[in-house]
Amino acid sequence: MTANAIRISNLTRNFGNVRALDNLSLLIPKGVVFGFLGANGSGKTTTIRLLLGLLEPTSGHAEVLGFDTRSHSDKIRQHTGALLEHSGLYERLSAEDNLEFYARVWRLPTAKRRSRIKELLSNMGLWQRRHEIVGGWSRGMKQKLAVARAMLHHPPLIFLDEPTTGLDPVAAAALRDELQETVAREGVTVFLTTHNLVEAEKLCHQIGVIRQGKLLAIGNPDQLRVQAGNPRIEIVGRGFTPKLIDYLKSQPLISSTQIQGDRLTITLRKQTSAAPLVKILVNAGVEIEEVRKGNASLEEVFLTLMEAP
Ligand SMILES: Nc1ncnc2c1ncn2[C@@H]1O[C@H](COP(=O)(O)OP(=O)(O)OP(=O)(O)O)[C@@H](O)[C@H]1O
Ligand SMILES: [Mg+2]
Repeated sequence: MTANAIRISNLTRNFGNVRALDNLSLLIPKGVVFGFLGANGSGKTTTIRLLLGLLEPTSGHAEVLGFDTRSHSDKIRQHTGALLEHSGLYERLSAEDNLEFYARVWRLPTAKRRSRIKELLSNMGLWQRRHEIVGGWSRGMKQKLAVARAMLHHPPLIFLDEPTTGLDPVAAAALRDELQETVAREGVTVFLTTHNLVEAEKLCHQIGVIRQGKLLAIGNPDQLRVQAGNPRIEIVGRGFTPKLIDYLKSQPLISSTQIQGDRLTITLRKQTSAAPLVKILVNAGVEIEEVRKGNASLEEVFLTLMEAP
């Protein structure tokens, strides 16, 4: 077996005149939680459908767990779990009966079926409510159950297409927590798409950013921040006069400044020491209380990548 869970080489998929995926190449190692970020229509779901063998590539090649997506999609679907747009849950069945049904589809032996269902429902905080009909459940509870369903047969790899979309912040955070714990406990590789950058930062070891079917950037959240976002210095203090701000803006190293109350944020064009800037501020009579250096947030990195020509 290979060390990579997913291997994508020059994958392209057209829909008529629309190129949904454009020569995408990507390696995802086993054991990683990979987050795929991109605007609406950038090709995330298409990638998942290609990887599951639900779509044929126009050109290029992909392997999932060592299986070719064109010739062995049945094997891929056996060895992976997926949460796509439709949860695949039966609204009229109880939570337990839903999992029971799928466990039979997967032909889990009876004894194992029981223990696996109990384990997953407990992990997701749903065990007490297992007899309730799913149709009456909130979206957050259904999503948790759908994640449990995707993991039922112990797949080493799961695909989650926007698992927290449409959930309120509390439900989304709860699902993220359960997901993070379960994924760590089971050592499963995850391919996740999301529009939530905080979620990506919290859950993902590796992040890929896609725009119009092309991969723009890849790395762990820290690498992305350093690669794509400009470093910044935050200064808390008093005495930021308009004249001083104008002077700062004229400095070649400074790309922008922003003032919010007693907080001045200076965005730099490249990594540099804060000391000379602090000196300028002190000489101009600013009373400094705090200086902090940091990198852009993942959200800023994302916006920068989206806006780049
Ligand atoms: N079955 C299809 N027929 C025609 N066009 C399609 C089909 N599936 C996807 N597309 C097109 O391919 C492009 C990528 O779509 P995709 O669903 O992969 O985007 P996405 O990144 O998942 O977007 P979202 O964040 O909105 O879910 C879009 O332009 C879309 O309209
Ligand atoms: Mg999608």
